[in-house]
Amino acid sequence: MFIATLLAAAAVAANQHEDLLVKRLPEVFARSAVHYKALDAAATPLMEAGDAKGKVPHSWSAKTGRLDMRSIYWWTSGHFPGSLWYLYEATGDEFFKERATVWTEMLAPNSKVTDNHDVGFIMNCSYGNARRILKTDKYDDLLRETAASLSKRFNPSLGLIRSWGALDGKNDFLVIPDNLMNLELLEAVAKNGEWGTGNGERGMGNGERFDKIARSHADVTMKHHFRADGGCYHVLNYDQRPGFLGQVQEFRRGQGLSCETAWSRGQSWGIYGYTMMYRFTKERRYLEFAQKLADYAMNNPNMPADGIPYWDYGAPGEERDSSAAAVMASALLELSTFVPGEDGERYRAFAVHQLIWLCSDDYFAKPGENGGWLLKHGVGHKPGNSEIDVPLDYGDYYFLEALLRFRALKH
Ligand code: GLY
Repeated sequence: MFIATLLAAAAVAANQHEDLLVKRLPEVFARSAVHYKALDAAATPLMEAGDAKGKVPHSWSAKTGRLDMRSIYWWTSGHFPGSLWYLYEATGDEFFKERATVWTEMLAPNSKVTDNHDVGFIMNCSYGNARRILKTDKYDDLLRETAASLSKRFNPSLGLIRSWGALDGKNDFLVIPDNLMNLELLEAVAKNGEWGTGNGERGMGNGERFDKIARSHADVTMKHHFRADGGCYHVLNYDQRPGFLGQVQEFRRGQGLSCETAWSRGQSWGIYGYTMMYRFTKERRYLEFAQKLADYAMNNPNMPADGIPYWDYGAPGEERDSSAAAVMASALLELSTFVPGEDGERYRAFAVHQLIWLCSDDYFAKPGENGGWLLKHGVGHKPGNSEIDVPLDYGDYYFLEALLRFRALKH
């Protein structure tokens, strides 16, 4: 009886939180639209001429007041166009469709890139959203070509896609958890029906192969890249020597505090990646693993009360990383749709709590602040002394995605 009363009270509180966020949504999308119009107006002349010609906005420095523009080959170049697509979806304002198309179509040369794994991120966030929202097949060949380029980085002996380094590098075979995010492009292209390309339709003949590569990478990563408690490592170096094949020869802290702690954004990539793999494959092992990684983060003793993680779970009291929270909130909302009962409700409630805080003045910039970006307090690479407490294009992207996922759940 007592437990039943407690559960009923928790359900009422969860509904009240959701109502709060529902009420905030129109203002949050409207303010985001104002921000991104200002950002587009500031970035367009830089992209068209001068030092930043051909580059895409990535961040902003409060110290110099300057926009940080990056090459179209930088791993985040798909996020700014992707946010413009999400704003088109959120507001229906044709301005965003027009500008999203311009910024997206700059990224085309990435379809041939084979020297890193990020083409999945880059092309799926930009062209993938264009395809989905415009319901067009005009970008399909480009996306198939990108998946083919990414699959060249797959090593069948190890069963893994190499994250960084030359395709045929003999000494290091480096993999990071972010790589899981690139599998979404492979699975989307592989999926029969949606792309009309599975099993050789329309000439590529790679649908099944892309799916196998994605599953293999997810399975081997599941075995090595997370500790027994579900916390992630950042950089793993796999051995390619016969006799040692597939063993982890080295752990590197990478963007995390140490090899023994969990880098927050890496943890969020993991939750998102395995939830996404379940969406495509319906394999329970991916769902269960996503839950394990989510539980690690949600129950972590160092998770702050507002649900916005420190940049590393081993660095309490240091900077928060709003981007890690945005990726996690988006992932948890999707996860909640796959998990019935109390656990699903727990994931949804945690994501809503994170979003309420991300929408507060503590994290969500006011117009005129933050160089036009939405979220304050992101951390790119603290050990590299780079991008500490700054806005980040991918933080905004997953923030908007999470808000749209929440809106869809309420309809
Ligand atoms: N992919 C690099 C990062 O998450 O910072």
